[in-house]
Amino acid sequence: MFPAASLLTTLLLALSIAASPVEVRNSPITLPIARRLNTSGGTINLLQHDQSRAAALKNAAASNIGRRAGSIAVTNDAVTYIAAVGVGSPATTYNLIVDTGSSNTWVGATTPYAMTSTSVNTGQPVAVSYGSGSFSGTEYTDTVTLGSGLTITQQSIGVASRSTGFTGVDGILGIGPLDLTEGTLTNSPTTTIPTVTQNLYTQGIISQVVVGVSFEPTTSQTVTNGELTFGGTDATKYTGAITYTPLTTTYPASYYWGINESITYGTKTILSATAGIVDTGTTLILIASNAFSTYQSATGATLDRRTGLLRITSTQYSALQNLNFNIGSNTYALTPNGQIWPRALNTYIGGTSTYIYLVVNSIGAPSGQGLDFINGYTFLERFYSVFDTTNSQVGFATTAYTTATTN
Ligand SMILES: *[C@@H]1O[C@H](CO)[C@@H](O)[C@H](O)[C@H]1NC(C)=O
Ligand SMILES: *[C@@H]1O[C@H](CO)[C@@H](O)[C@H](O)[C@H]1NC(C)=O
Repeated sequence: MFPAASLLTTLLLALSIAASPVEVRNSPITLPIARRLNTSGGTINLLQHDQSRAAALKNAAASNIGRRAGSIAVTNDAVTYIAAVGVGSPATTYNLIVDTGSSNTWVGATTPYAMTSTSVNTGQPVAVSYGSGSFSGTEYTDTVTLGSGLTITQQSIGVASRSTGFTGVDGILGIGPLDLTEGTLTNSPTTTIPTVTQNLYTQGIISQVVVGVSFEPTTSQTVTNGELTFGGTDATKYTGAITYTPLTTTYPASYYWGINESITYGTKTILSATAGIVDTGTTLILIASNAFSTYQSATGATLDRRTGLLRITSTQYSALQNLNFNIGSNTYALTPNGQIWPRALNTYIGGTSTYIYLVVNSIGAPSGQGLDFINGYTFLERFYSVFDTTNSQVGFATTAYTTATTN
């Protein structure tokens, strides 16, 4: 009996390992991410930022012309997620926005690029327009250092000679799909630029083109509460198993980290199965306008003119049900507390400290457009996410914060 049982166990183990080849658990290549609320322009209009990013993502994908001209996602300049990245040898540290919706990595917006013996000017002009900002300059190759001393040699990086909309940060660490770099070298419109993740793989530092992302809910304006893991996942950051869903084939979500999902509030359907994206550069959870109306009536929320967000009373908050994201055969339940903006941060977004605001809002267009939702930061701080190029899939897992009540 025992040998047979252990053989079976061994077989099952072998099968489960074969079925999830992606899991390089505890990859040592991790990079902390700091979250920063930018209040230098007065109070933040979260909704306006997120909706214009959504529109820019759709537009960039919609016209190949726009994409070839290097016009891709707008970055969210209200709430940014920053990683410290070293470039050169000896390295200068640059604070770069971590962006899953764009794929060029570049520096020079604030701290000037410091050339060292490893800097090579390729002479290629590079330009990217992000909607609310842009950069143009020259493509270099240089040594890039991530986290504690891990180096990539001859990484392509943009060096900005001109940039707009990037006050207080040095540029972007683009972890979106490789194809988004196509057309950004203005003299070679069909060339792509190997991303940092791609080069880690090509140089044998990681064995899968995978990035794991961990965020945690926060009530502080600036905090280091995120982590990027290259080449695998960090098992200390999630609970249970990661389940994967294939990248969607539906355009334009398929240009980004796109997946299919449906959303229910309690048992009520809010959004029927459709395609959308997972995005670190969007703060809220945006859903098609018709789904948003259904959610508003189901929760009884009123639209708050000052913030543009939905607002609920404490009685309505007590009655709030889970918002269920049905992805593949799994359901990720966003708890009532996960559906509200951290009350300690209400005044930063132009709200009243005693009010309760919801983080679910409208994407600004009805469903049926191939990019009908964005699972933004407020989703990602409750579920660990894995962006897997090698196996064309996105994975999610619950975390110690999935049911946290810190908001
Ligand atoms: C902060 O906001 C100001 C004003 O809205 C903007 O000009 C600036 O680029 C933003 N800074 C960052 C780091 O995004
Ligand atoms: C996603 O949904 C679309 C539209 O229903 C469907 O064609 C596609 O097969 C689904 N799955 C993937 C992985 O794209």
